[in-house]
Amino acid sequence: MSITAKLIELLRANVRTVALTGAGVSAESGVPTFRGNDGLWSKFDPTELASMNAFMRNPKLVWEWYLYRRDVIGKAEPNMGHETLAKMEQHLSDFTLVTQNVDNLHRRAGSQNVIELHGNIQRNKCRQCGSPMDQVEIDPDNIPRCSCGGQIRPDVVWFGELLPEEALVTAIKMAEKSALFLSIGTSALVYPAADLPLIAKNNGAYLVEINPEPTGLTPYADEVFHGKSGEILPIIWQVAMEEASSGEASLKTNEA
Ligand code: OAD
Repeated sequence: MSITAKLIELLRANVRTVALTGAGVSAESGVPTFRGNDGLWSKFDPTELASMNAFMRNPKLVWEWYLYRRDVIGKAEPNMGHETLAKMEQHLSDFTLVTQNVDNLHRRAGSQNVIELHGNIQRNKCRQCGSPMDQVEIDPDNIPRCSCGGQIRPDVVWFGELLPEEALVTAIKMAEKSALFLSIGTSALVYPAADLPLIAKNNGAYLVEINPEPTGLTPYADEVFHGKSGEILPIIWQVAMEEASSGEASLKTNEA
């Protein structure tokens, strides 16, 4: 695997960096991705499971599916990809992590500031008024209701729904300002998240993609690593840190 001097230089220079992650970053933790031969959407129909219409039609089925995924995710452990991104946050003074994942594995790996574009599967909210309902245990045969009367649903973004506004606005702003943008483990097919790498690129960022497969984003990337994020990210970071330690002790700049 070869890493360009440019990428190492940017990390060393502690430039504004944004990492966008998708399901691929959790694949090595045993959490299935959505697309591809083994992806969830090759076995299940998203319109039956991940939309408000589906929930209105059959809330029990939708909850059973989310409880099953909660169980899978609850048993999964963060991998080296998550851990390296947490280290980047610690060492780089202007690093933003944006994720499409709902699995909470970035936080469990130690990332403190995670912009979650598609919600978080561990949280619940009211279908009607949107109030958070974090502590509620869910019995799919007897779905609890909010004080407003609305049924409780998982706090994730379903097909046809808008993304949480503040998260999206912040992600776009950070992408625009970034000098280095890492697109990791995402098919870059779902918008508006898939716009972020191109927003960054159009504003002058150096665009890096990490994915075992080519995506629609690949032709636009300045540097592509065809491999697993749990293997590639630690190598990139190790090289950057080795370079850094030969000069300064840390990649963080000291503000005067
Ligand atoms: P996808 O399932 O569409 O894409 C996962 C990507 O990860 C693919 O491009 C794989 O090649 C890549 N991949 C697989 N293993 C990898 C590994 N070990 N390291 C790095 N990359 C790997 O998942 P997303 O792009 O996240 O939305 O999908 C976007 C959204 O579509 C999801 O957030 C979800 C889904 O419908 C909602 O639920 C709203």
